[in-house]
Amino acid sequence: MISRVAIALLFVLAAGLSLAYARAPRPVIVIERPGQCVEATEVMRRDHMTLLLHQRDRTMREGIRTRPHSLAGCVECHASAKTGSVLGEQGFCESCHRYASVKLDCFECHASKPGRVSARAKP
Ligand code: HEC
Ligand code: HEC
Ligand code: HEC
Repeated sequence: MISRVAIALLFVLAAGLSLAYARAPRPVIVIERPGQCVEATEVMRRDHMTLLLHQRDRTMREGIRTRPHSLAGCVECHASAKTGSVLGEQGFCESCHRYASVKLDCFECHASKPGRVSARAKP
């Protein structure tokens, strides 16, 4: 009898724990514009940083400005319909980076909202 109560209590405890885990902030990945990314989703998940950094090097050093891997392009497609931004708690880029503890300085210069010309960088 007592052990049954103990087991029941354990289940209650376990349920409470899993609820607590479920409440931990998860990345908010909302795809606002249906369609395709600039690369396959798997490639983007794994390699978007390299794509972006490589693209920046090419632009800065060689003056090549192509659309496919541009940061402005990411922002255009991935900005939230609610906030208009890729940043913020629910923002496409920031929510995942917060979750992964990644810090970016990109948006100090680059616009985090589509169609905005930021003070320091055009794209
Ligand atoms: C100190 C300001 C500054 C910071 C910080 C910065 N950039 Fe830039 N970025 C620029 C400027 C200026 C250009 C050139 C704009 C032009 O020539 O049109 C540029 C161009 C680019 C381009 C090519 C244009 C485009 O839209 O594709 C990419 C990609 C890019 N940056 C990515 C990044 C990423 C990723 C980060 C963060 C890791 C970053 N930048 C951080 C200033 C900055
Ligand atoms: C033309 C619109 C468009 C552009 C431009 C774009 N994306 Fe995407 N992106 C999408 C769509 C749509 C998906 C979902 C694709 C799917 O699920 O099949 C996606 C998926 C992703 C994912 C995977 C999310 C997940 O499910 O885990 C990442 C990461 C991503 N994009 C980052 C970027 C970055 C970084 C850039 C800029 C270099 C960019 N995207 C440019 C439309 C775009
Ligand atoms: C599905 C999760 C996810 C999404 C969505 C996402 N990122 Fe990332 N991003 C990561 C992870 C994880 C890393 C760190 C990877 C590593 O360090 O190897 C990273 C790293 C980066 C880096 C390199 C940072 C550095 O200084 O090394 C850049 C630039 C970047 N992300 C840009 C973006 C942009 C722009 C968006 C939105 C358009 C975006 N990411 C959306 C998960 C994501």
